[in-house]
Amino acid sequence: MSDITFTMIKPDAVSAGHIGAILKKINEAGFRIVAMKMSKLSLEKAGEFYEIHRERPFYRELIEFMSSGPIVAAVLEKENAVEDFRTLIGATNPAEAEPGTIRALYARDVGENAVHGADSDENARREAGFHFATTEIFR
Ligand code: CDP
Ligand code: MG
Repeated sequence: MSDITFTMIKPDAVSAGHIGAILKKINEAGFRIVAMKMSKLSLEKAGEFYEIHRERPFYRELIEFMSSGPIVAAVLEKENAVEDFRTLIGATNPAEAEPGTIRALYARDVGENAVHGADSDENARREAGFHFATTEIFR
């Protein structure tokens, strides 16, 4: 079985109408969508999801932003999924993201940066489990 990663299309990209374009990039890069849903995080759930960043100066702003509107959560399958997806989305700050990456194309700034991508296999599994029941993941 191939690896998985976890992604969210963030509220900025959803409200700007970029869901379709971002999913197209994901598919064209060879990822298979094995779970997907649109939902809205409460401030509390966003806080839990980004628990690892609790001590960072941007934490409050981040969780307020991530709970400000709907997101699209998805689990993606591909060999080397975590690393390849990080390459596809580009640097956290879109000003530093490689041309053609999702963040270079669709992000507004370092905070409102269009997409989330898990940073390790362990976190991908944890984050997938945070958003989806096992019966909602089709591998
Ligand atoms: O999302 P990524 O893994 O690239 O970056 P991170 O360092 O794990 O930070 C998580 C999220 O916090 C980012 O995607 C941004 O939305 C936000 N952030 C921010 O608002 N300001 C920063 N200086 C760094 C991150
Ligand atoms: Mg991260």
